[in-house]
Amino acid sequence: MLNMNKTWALPFSCLLFGLLLSCVQGLENGLARTPPMGWMHWERFRCITDCEKYPDECISEQLFKRHANLLVSEGYASAGYEYVIIDDCWLEKDRDNKTNKLVPHLERFPNGLNSLADHIHGKGLKFGLYQDFGTNTCAGYPGVIDHMALDAETFANWDVDYVKLDGCYANISDMAAGYPEFGRLLNRTGRPMVYSCSWPAYQEEEGQVPDYESLKEHCNLWRNWNDIDDSLESVMQIIDYFGKNQDRIQPHAGPGHWNDPDMLILGNYGLSYDQSKLQMAIWAVLAAPLIMSNDLAVVRPEIKEILQNRDIIAVDQDPLGIQGRRVLMKKQIEVWRRPITPVTLQREYSYAIAFVSRRADGAPYSITFKLKELGLLNVDGYNVKDLYASDSNLGLFSSDSLFTTRVNPNGVTFYKFTAL
Ligand code: GLA
Repeated sequence: MLNMNKTWALPFSCLLFGLLLSCVQGLENGLARTPPMGWMHWERFRCITDCEKYPDECISEQLFKRHANLLVSEGYASAGYEYVIIDDCWLEKDRDNKTNKLVPHLERFPNGLNSLADHIHGKGLKFGLYQDFGTNTCAGYPGVIDHMALDAETFANWDVDYVKLDGCYANISDMAAGYPEFGRLLNRTGRPMVYSCSWPAYQEEEGQVPDYESLKEHCNLWRNWNDIDDSLESVMQIIDYFGKNQDRIQPHAGPGHWNDPDMLILGNYGLSYDQSKLQMAIWAVLAAPLIMSNDLAVVRPEIKEILQNRDIIAVDQDPLGIQGRRVLMKKQIEVWRRPITPVTLQREYSYAIAFVSRRADGAPYSITFKLKELGLLNVDGYNVKDLYASDSNLGLFSSDSLFTTRVNPNGVTFYKFTAL
């Protein structure tokens, strides 16, 4: 992968590291070393375009300015949430008939995207934009297919920092070549832009197995599967997809290239307090991009606390970048485990472990495991901390110790086991 501004650096670094590493030419833009964090409008605001009826919700300059302001004033920015991303429905239905350029909706974005980008950048945040590889976006606005070079240039001129490229109205068989091509065109502009690809989600839909090596080389993140909706059912379907397919998905995540289970939906209508904790914990185990989609003005304090939980964000952003896996299922309790730092001198990982209850039988369910059973074998044991009760240090456990946790119905408990 190439650094956009420093194409000269590639042969030099190949020379330096060539004996040790293989030298691949792809997207390497130095971005997304940890999973991107931010806010995107789609799950909560969809394609609301009637600004008269819904002035606070319609897809307009106001919505994104308001959320850039809220990210900062409500403390999300200092917790790491950085990208403000416009999803679908920001365009006019036609390109400019002289220049062929994309045109942001004239009434809803009256000052153009540069002015919005300035506002977002002025808040210390970054600016993301949605487009589609096909003839049209999923909501029917013009896509990039016949104008890829022009659109990549236009994005750079609009000071875009992150591009989500969807895959509606496109030939799936063109994607394996077309998505990398658009990535190259983005790079060629010289402006660093995180590149989020939807190509595997469309291949999966057709029963094709995505080429993860190519994805890693050409995209910073990629949507693996279905869109998230505002319900526990939707969250659990995604979690199940990641659990069932982990052998082929999990190994491909790492610094610069991430699997994307879709947006965080806590703060909306569908999840209870416990279910909100569950989504946050599993997204952290999955090394998922933490892209919220909610109305930040009305997120209740206890949900905001979950979204801003520094210990859990640290798990998500762990520098090793190893995606976690579902390692056990017992009595309808799932155990999800992610290797994280610190790593001991003997190369034993620390772990973040989430216990997810699929039970609905009323009382919180108590369950006991020997640490060994969870694959925690460090001879000097672990110091254990409850990540949802930051003041609670549970003390030292050896690999032979019994560890008991009590999980609420449709809930989660989440711990850090620090290897000693
Ligand atoms: C697809 C994507 C969603 C969203 C919509 C917009 O369904 O998967 O994330 O971008 O299109 O139309």
